[in-house]
Amino acid sequence: MSIESRLWRLAAHPKGPVEPSDFSLETVTIEDLDDGQFRVAIEYIAFEPAMRSWIMGRDTYVKGVQVGDVMRALAVGVIEESRHPEVEVGQRVVGNFGWREHAVASSMRDFGGIRAVPEGTPPTWPLSILGITGLTAYFGLLDIGQPKPGDAILVSGAAGATGSVAAQIAKHVKGASRVVGVAGGPEKCAWLTEVAGLDAAIDYKAFTDQRALTREVFEQFPDGIDVFFDNVGGPILDAALARINNHARIVVCGAISRYDTANPGPGPGNYTTLILKPGPMEGFVGLDYASRFGEAARELADCRADGKLTHAEDAQAEFAKAQAV
Ligand SMILES: NC(=O)c1ccc[n+]([C@@H]2O[C@H](COP(=O)([O-])OP(=O)(O)OC[C@H]3O[C@@H](n4cnc5c(N)ncnc54)[C@H](OP(=O)(O)O)[C@@H]3O)[C@@H](O)[C@H]2O)c1
Repeated sequence: MSIESRLWRLAAHPKGPVEPSDFSLETVTIEDLDDGQFRVAIEYIAFEPAMRSWIMGRDTYVKGVQVGDVMRALAVGVIEESRHPEVEVGQRVVGNFGWREHAVASSMRDFGGIRAVPEGTPPTWPLSILGITGLTAYFGLLDIGQPKPGDAILVSGAAGATGSVAAQIAKHVKGASRVVGVAGGPEKCAWLTEVAGLDAAIDYKAFTDQRALTREVFEQFPDGIDVFFDNVGGPILDAALARINNHARIVVCGAISRYDTANPGPGPGNYTTLILKPGPMEGFVGLDYASRFGEAARELADCRADGKLTHAEDAQAEFAKAQAV
């Protein structure tokens, strides 16, 4: 039986801030399945900062989303009908299904590779702690940051999906002596210290002046910073660079303070500290570690089960408002 299903397409590449009119909602008819096909009913769709660069249309580590394309996103759903001999109705799966209510596939290799979600895994976790953000945190911190027991570690964007996992691995798995997270507002800062168990949090919104922010970083790190896991760039990167130790590792995971503006301004101001305090400042792409995702997801799941990691999720219910979230 054919069904009606909704999907979102990119309607325009944003010029300046993203507008709801940059997306268009469409209802399509999905015809009866052919032999060999199966249909996924989407339950949850990931929403992440990388989308901001995808919708500009430029190819980066993935192809840009073009006007008319279904908006790209990782999503979780359940197989609701199958005429494929190896695909069972009821199996929960994760894939690059995009902003749509139903996806029809002919192979588990479609949609960038469809993977079964293990029995017992909460449906949102493959998009959060066990998804690309959790895995990016894992590899960025461990492979690039190389934390050692006793290190002092600063994480920006620390209440976000990636930063919160990086900060907790540093503190509760790798034995850092001091882990400080940077986040916006007292509520997120309280979550970092009281729930995620970090040593301290810096509310960057309370510091409008660069010198005051840098002073705060100095006070939080009397013995300097050994690892800085940066999701944000901008003023916090400058403040961290001013306080790094010899041979500190600076992990350039993201620069979200620069994404949503046509004119992000000049780059880091304090990078010359790297001459006096030599050490690497290195970017990376989480997806480059895809061949090791299985092993890392199992470790993250174990840490979550042991209580070494926690995470918070924000799920919005209305598909028809996806473009305005
Ligand atoms: N390298 C990779 O392969 C890779 C993969 C995934 C993600 N990333 C990057 O990791 C970063 C975090 O992604 P995520 O998915 O964890 O994001 P997320 O959960 O959506 O968290 C992003 C947080 O960044 C903070 N933020 C936004 N604008 C800011 C600004 N101007 N200054 C300071 N903080 C700001 C906000 O928290 P506050 O309320 O605390 O301000 C926001 O909630 C992004 O830069 C993303 O591009 C990189």
